[in-house]
Amino acid sequence: MNIKGKWSLITGASSGIGEQFARQLAKEGSHLVLVARSKRKLDTLAAELTRSYGTQCQVIPQDLSIEGAAGELYQKCQQLNLNIDLLVNNAGFATHGLFEQISGERQHEEVMLNVAAVVDMTHLFLPGMLQRGAGAVINVSSTAGFQPLPYMAVYGATKAFVLSFTDALWWENRDRGVQFFALCPGSTETNFFNVVGTDDASVGAKDSPERVVEVTLRAMKKGKQYVVPGFRNYLGAQISRFMTRRQSLRLVGGMLRPRKQ
Ligand SMILES: NC(=O)c1ccc[n+]([C@@H]2O[C@H](COP(=O)([O-])OP(=O)(O)OC[C@H]3O[C@@H](n4cnc5c(N)ncnc54)[C@H](OP(=O)(O)O)[C@@H]3O)[C@@H](O)[C@H]2O)c1
Repeated sequence: MNIKGKWSLITGASSGIGEQFARQLAKEGSHLVLVARSKRKLDTLAAELTRSYGTQCQVIPQDLSIEGAAGELYQKCQQLNLNIDLLVNNAGFATHGLFEQISGERQHEEVMLNVAAVVDMTHLFLPGMLQRGAGAVINVSSTAGFQPLPYMAVYGATKAFVLSFTDALWWENRDRGVQFFALCPGSTETNFFNVVGTDDASVGAKDSPERVVEVTLRAMKKGKQYVVPGFRNYLGAQISRFMTRRQSLRLVGGMLRPRKQ
């Protein structure tokens, strides 16, 4: 899909992988709807991209973990008369530790943002793409989506949901002009681990968000359905297929166990 002159909507565009999507899509000539909670960061990014590439940007600050937020965002796009041709469901965060010791409210928020918002956004924006017979949806999953994660139980489950959901919609839409794509990064150098509050949740060397997004856009152009950037991450994501579920849990549980315990 040629994104030049079309509108892309990116959630979580104020930082990390989402910010990189904004930068690289602007470079390719896309106009942008930038969504996150931090209005100031989005305004600064929008001004820079407009200056550098002439990108038209709409900044929409929104907390997507709140019930009904996706609907509000969709209404704002309708009021602005924007047809979204590329939707990037990227906003997300993780929690780490023993399940019962992590705030229940925080884990609920995690499910709302990582799962419910992705479903709602896709349900709202897909019909317009189908009507126009063209569009694409990138959902950001993770290598966490390939097997359960002890000590990150909710996060792993949300990312498995995103991967399963995206694969299923890829199949449903493969002949209808809308490309679904799952991005499954390994550890990436962003604000993610500051939000988690510990590096115990990080496995292996961290990739740069620039490279993660470059690899994604390249894989999409080749018509792929998902990508795990980095060969080691790819192997790590596949390894559980060759193990029993219990062996996989032992391996991952050993890697993610909180070090202070
Ligand atoms: N970094 C990694 O190692 C890694 C690995 C695999 C997958 N991922 C996935 O990659 C995606 C992007 O994460 P990142 O690594 O780029 O982390 P990040 O730098 O922390 O970025 C997260 C983005 O999500 C936004 N966000 C957080 N809570 C939000 C909310 N309630 N409503 C709307 N926006 C919200 C943040 O903006 P505000 O705070 O301004 O709202 C920020 O723009 C996530 O889905 C994450 O699970 C990351």
